[in-house]
Amino acid sequence: MATATGRATAPPDEAGLQAHFEARISGEQRIEPRDWMPEGYRKTLIRQIAQHAHSEIIGMQPEGDWLTRAPSLRRKAILLAKVQDEAGHGLYLYAAAETLGVERADLTQRLINGRQKYSSIFNYPTLSFADVGVIGWLVDGAAICNQVPLCRSSYGPYARAMVRICKEESFHQRQGYELLMRMMEGTPAQREMVQDAVDRWWWPALMMFGPPDAESPNTRQSMAWRIKRDTNDELRQRFVDMTVPQARRLGVTLPDPELRWNAERGHHDFGQPDWEEFKRVIAGDGPCNAERIARRRAAHDNGAWVREAAVAHAAKRRARTTEEVPA
Ligand SMILES: [Fe+2]
Ligand SMILES: [Fe+2]
Repeated sequence: MATATGRATAPPDEAGLQAHFEARISGEQRIEPRDWMPEGYRKTLIRQIAQHAHSEIIGMQPEGDWLTRAPSLRRKAILLAKVQDEAGHGLYLYAAAETLGVERADLTQRLINGRQKYSSIFNYPTLSFADVGVIGWLVDGAAICNQVPLCRSSYGPYARAMVRICKEESFHQRQGYELLMRMMEGTPAQREMVQDAVDRWWWPALMMFGPPDAESPNTRQSMAWRIKRDTNDELRQRFVDMTVPQARRLGVTLPDPELRWNAERGHHDFGQPDWEEFKRVIAGDGPCNAERIARRRAAHDNGAWVREAAVAHAAKRRARTTEEVPA
């Protein structure tokens, strides 16, 4: 760097940049795309935001399966709006990831090549229309617990994307709960469908918060960087405490014999999910992993002509603007 007098001053060294970065983090100031950041911070964010974006996009599939079979026009319209919202969430998040210097096309490639992950929950099948309600209630409910603290994440573009997303997730949860309320007022067969769906989705929903804290090596660093604000176990506890009274109001039983109020702790005690199953599903061996990725790959291939047309159109526009600018 040269000063006005022509004398060179040393650029800020790595330690100085690091100290400035840490001061901003501890002062609750946001980090923005052009700010200096440690490589580890950038990489952690790319991994987390990409995984989140992939989950939104893959998450369209289990519910999307019921779009053509929704029991009424009203339910179809609601479900269609919800599934479209998830596509929008994916787009906000890919855009946030791009501010860190990666390309959306690469991220998609990494997803369909199995090099990047998405939430394990979307590898379970939707067997009845009650699953649509239970996904809204439990899966979007767990997503809200996870995501509300991310609105205060230290990385600006991620935090701002989360603010928009959380507003829609709240609608998703309510539509699911409302659907289940209606079904619970229906026939015994409908009530049974709801209970069966709750039995199948409860444990996978608890797994959405990730492994227990003792086995989550990245949590401590992510919290020091204020990317994450709470540990996996804290969020899981918050979700259980929030959900138990909702289940009671609905009239369903949560399938956990260890679930009970602990007055001393002021929280519910609950059992542990089958973490071996979680590892298997994450590793690719869940009920629907292969199907989800095959469909995503096919959709990507089918969309090639749209991407090519968009690039050609952009090039044409660029050429026209250049011609119009006087030399
Ligand atoms: Fe979403
Ligand atoms: Fe959602």
